[in-house]
Amino acid sequence: MSIKKAVIPASGVGTRFLPTTKAIPKELLPLLDKPLIQYAVEEAVASGIREVILVTSQGKEALERYFEPDPALESFLKDRGSLELQDEVRRVTSLAKMSYVEQKEPLGLGHAVLTAKDLVGDEPFAVMLPDDVIQSAKPALGQMIEVYHSQGGGVIAVEEVPRDQVSSYGVITPEPLSDEVYRIHGVVEKPPPEKAPSNLAIVGRYILPPEIFDCLERTCPGAKGEIQLTDGLALLMETQELYGYRFSGTRHDGGTPLGLLKASLAMALAREDTRAAILETIKQHLPA
Ligand code: G1P
Repeated sequence: MSIKKAVIPASGVGTRFLPTTKAIPKELLPLLDKPLIQYAVEEAVASGIREVILVTSQGKEALERYFEPDPALESFLKDRGSLELQDEVRRVTSLAKMSYVEQKEPLGLGHAVLTAKDLVGDEPFAVMLPDDVIQSAKPALGQMIEVYHSQGGGVIAVEEVPRDQVSSYGVITPEPLSDEVYRIHGVVEKPPPEKAPSNLAIVGRYILPPEIFDCLERTCPGAKGEIQLTDGLALLMETQELYGYRFSGTRHDGGTPLGLLKASLAMALAREDTRAAILETIKQHLPA
């Protein structure tokens, strides 16, 4: 079955970006010249997905507004002759068919995904965490969809991280099937390094069967007292095969102020129109 829908959980409080996130959803903070959320939506679209379900929460209405047409702004830009900007503003509103569902209580990532159950329906779908921004020649989610079709089971993006960082991630028990694909024998959320089954950390991209919803309904609060997606995956694995996939590309963590700054620098250095200016600025700040 083809993957037609992506769920993007965007209901978190954005604690790491307070006080900014008192007034602005974290997902609208800019990475260079676009908000974080747009990178995820564009990756979904580049991977062949046309429907995006955003899980939001109270106070994050600006996320919906961002993807809605703004005729007054468009005619203002047109009158000023800013036609490229007008196009860009309009393009954002037609990237994908957007729908929204509100997570009423902050009960965790697994619960946020479960909130999208009715909008997803009875078909396999993608989950994308917008904090994880992936730079790659071929969209990471598109790579995973290919693995999903060749393996015929759910696929989770993974990457190797230093042992002392595993406690920030979900971690898999892998059985290598090739250089990039693993059969997953277990998953654990944020283990201490000495208890981690490997250093293969879950990155925020998943292709999941609809049975995950039943599993999430049965998932009890875990790490941080929240209903964790990883714990739902552990239940799913009792009846279904899951595969880990080491994607090609570079992941940036846009979920912390320092991570967002590093991601901005990496992107700016990779782009021709900004590279020279950023290199010059970095040089100016290096000790002589
Ligand atoms: C979430 C998931 C975790 C995964 C991570 C990837 O954690 O719970 O399994 O490794 O995203 O970014 P969070 O970063 O929300 O704490």
